[in-house]
Amino acid sequence: MSQQETTAPQRPAGPQIILTGDRPTGPLHLGHYVGSLRNRVAYQHEYKQFIMLADSQALTDNMDDTNKVHRNVVEVALDYLACGIDPAKSTILIQSQIPELAELTFYYLNLVTVARLERNPTVKQEIVLRGFERDIPAGFLTYPASQAADISAFKASVVPVGEDQIPMIEQTNEIVRKFNRLANKDILVECKAVVPEVGRLPGIDGKAKMSKSLGNVINLGATADEIKAAVKMVYTDPLHLKVSDPGHLEGNVAFIYLDAFDTEKAALQEMKDHYVRGGLGDSVVKKRLEVVLQDMLAPIRARREELAKDKGYIMQVLKEGTMRAREVAAKTTDEVKAALGLSYF
Ligand code: TRP
Repeated sequence: MSQQETTAPQRPAGPQIILTGDRPTGPLHLGHYVGSLRNRVAYQHEYKQFIMLADSQALTDNMDDTNKVHRNVVEVALDYLACGIDPAKSTILIQSQIPELAELTFYYLNLVTVARLERNPTVKQEIVLRGFERDIPAGFLTYPASQAADISAFKASVVPVGEDQIPMIEQTNEIVRKFNRLANKDILVECKAVVPEVGRLPGIDGKAKMSKSLGNVINLGATADEIKAAVKMVYTDPLHLKVSDPGHLEGNVAFIYLDAFDTEKAALQEMKDHYVRGGLGDSVVKKRLEVVLQDMLAPIRARREELAKDKGYIMQVLKEGTMRAREVAAKTTDEVKAALGLSYF
């Protein structure tokens, strides 16, 4: 799988550590799969990987619906396991159950300015999307510092995420560098974002981003009927009115999805050529897309349904992962506090 990477970080000795995570605000969809899940499944064999259910971060814009966040911790965990994240290889943890992360955040807040937080392009966009322009919750504005704590607590050097998270990684590295300079010692580790080259998956409606709030998603746990209905709605080429018309591939969501998921590349290329030449109807393209998506999602859905029957097992995976992760975060927090002169006894 090819990826693009942000600037090369210092490489710490020993195995590379990955930290990545999601806000549990809804079930995961194909955008998450392309944007990060697929990478995480591949990486767990080579790296020590921590995957965080960022419930505290989710609360920064969901204080009015804490139940939703609680519920979705389990939903997202199901998505992880159903996609092939193996709890024996990856450590899945719940952010809120590791108080050291909040502690680190509190110190890091002194290493960022309000102006810098306001300039973070992802935060800026989210402020508009959430209608926070006139009154930003302080916790929301400062969540990049909390994300820096998430990443640095585990001394992660690799962060597989979607491209919207690149500003968070940049800000994390700024905090890490500032802290290390202050401590006069490389206690924290700089990280790099690893973003899949496919980039962001558009929504079925052709909008640039697949997103639950835009209602243009295909969930990983979607039923066969839901997949079928979604494929019917997939945006193609509005100028391709008759089968004989030459079609366009740019912005054509059916082909963008096929590029992302169809493994039969030669046949796909032939279909593209035919479409561009004219003489190939959208219905043929969509038929192929439906086959590809049904084949890909059926085993994920089956595994998800199976796992959902045993909530005790899911909770046990989360508890064990969280406990293991807490030990690591606590160790880093001790080092950070010592460097700040905050160790007394
Ligand atoms: N901000 C991420 C998102 O919205 C979730 C997240 C929280 C995260 N902590 C993280 C991602 C640490 C990577 C690393 O999807």
